[in-house]
Amino acid sequence: MNAADDKMIVREYFNATGFDRWRRIYGDGEVNTVQLDIRKGHQQTIDTVLSWLTADGNLNELTICDAGCGVGSLSIPLAQAGAKVYATDISEKMVTEAKERAQKALEQAENPQFAVQDLEALSDRCHTVICLDVLIHYPQTKAAEMIAHLSSLAESRLILSFAPKTPCYTLLKKIGDFFPGPSKATRAYLHREAEILQLLEANGWKLQRHTLNKTRFYFSRLLEVTRS
Ligand SMILES: C[S@@+](CC[C@H](N)C(=O)[O-])C[C@H]1O[C@@H](n2cnc3c(N)ncnc32)[C@H](O)[C@@H]1O
Repeated sequence: MNAADDKMIVREYFNATGFDRWRRIYGDGEVNTVQLDIRKGHQQTIDTVLSWLTADGNLNELTICDAGCGVGSLSIPLAQAGAKVYATDISEKMVTEAKERAQKALEQAENPQFAVQDLEALSDRCHTVICLDVLIHYPQTKAAEMIAHLSSLAESRLILSFAPKTPCYTLLKKIGDFFPGPSKATRAYLHREAEILQLLEANGWKLQRHTLNKTRFYFSRLLEVTRS
């Protein structure tokens, strides 16, 4: 399967069964135990990014691109905290849901600015580019191209998360693959942290803050890099 197929499958998934699944996980309604666990893990990732950026004390001076924004879980609080946010996603359904959530949470409709766009088609530069839990949908070669493109958009900082490839998580993923429910039906790719760090270095980045957010069924390595 080539990379274009990967992208088409991901787009279709997040406009159909994936939309229903992730909208619920990224919400506050009733979900099953596994989904609740993933919701809590994902919220750790969102909270970590918000705490890093808030601690810097300059959010209202920043332009931020949230590439693969999903339902706006990060974009909306970032806009609330004063950043100028450009929130984009390949899935029209996710963007529509994000806009609705933003309308409910915020008193204005200009910020975040939402658009349906493949992150590799973005061209406007921002101070900070953030891409959370998106690389899991792509194999290593595609992830490398995406990191290169996101790097070209980020003036000062890139914040990325990905599912790390370790023996334990490889096993957990294999177990999950035995039970491929229809709403889980995209492939999930784990990435070796050393390879991601090499790619970031090759694109001119230096590691600043990092952490691993994890629960039983959610695991996501979060890296912040700045220009070296
Ligand atoms: C697991 S969700 C994470 C959403 C969000 N980043 C968050 O953490 O709340 C992955 C999102 O990436 C989006 N996505 C996948 N491939 C993309 C691409 N090539 N360009 C833009 N968005 C993409 C999907 O549509 C989906 O909304």
